[in-house]
Amino acid sequence: MKVVFVCLGNICRSPMAEAVFRQMIQAEGLADKIEIDSAATSSWEQGNPVHSGTRNQLKRVGISTEGMYSRTLDKTDLNADYLIGMDETNIRDIHAFVADRSSVRVEKLLSFAGEARDIADPWYTGDFEQTYQDVMKGCQALLMEMKQRLEKEGVE
Ligand code: 4NP
Repeated sequence: MKVVFVCLGNICRSPMAEAVFRQMIQAEGLADKIEIDSAATSSWEQGNPVHSGTRNQLKRVGISTEGMYSRTLDKTDLNADYLIGMDETNIRDIHAFVADRSSVRVEKLLSFAGEARDIADPWYTGDFEQTYQDVMKGCQALLMEMKQRLEKEGVE
């Protein structure tokens, strides 16, 4: 199973979700079953490292973002099972990118937690702690969905 988190620049929100979800998956012993990545809808930050706000927020909870650099969505992402956007604009851009080329599921991260709202965008709020709380909520709900899906597949 492959999950790709997506935002506008791939330096603030989606790398945070990638790193947080990777830690959850490792803690659950599911690292060999779920591939995790992140990407940008734009090429504005291509090649740039994770934003210091995200890096510092994650460092506080013991997660490293070393070796993570922004990249733009490309055709290798069409084989993902989930493309997960952070806000409504991401969802529009992902749908436009996918068009009819893939049956990948496109979802907004907080929709897994039953919430219609966007992940708080620290590019505008400057509040990476709030973004982290939102990302945690979405990723915990996503983890539940993944575990259920893997259990079902194991039974079939
Ligand atoms: P991200 O944050 O999409 O969460 O990585 C942003 C990064 C760059 C820009 C906006 C948001 N930008 O306008 O360049």
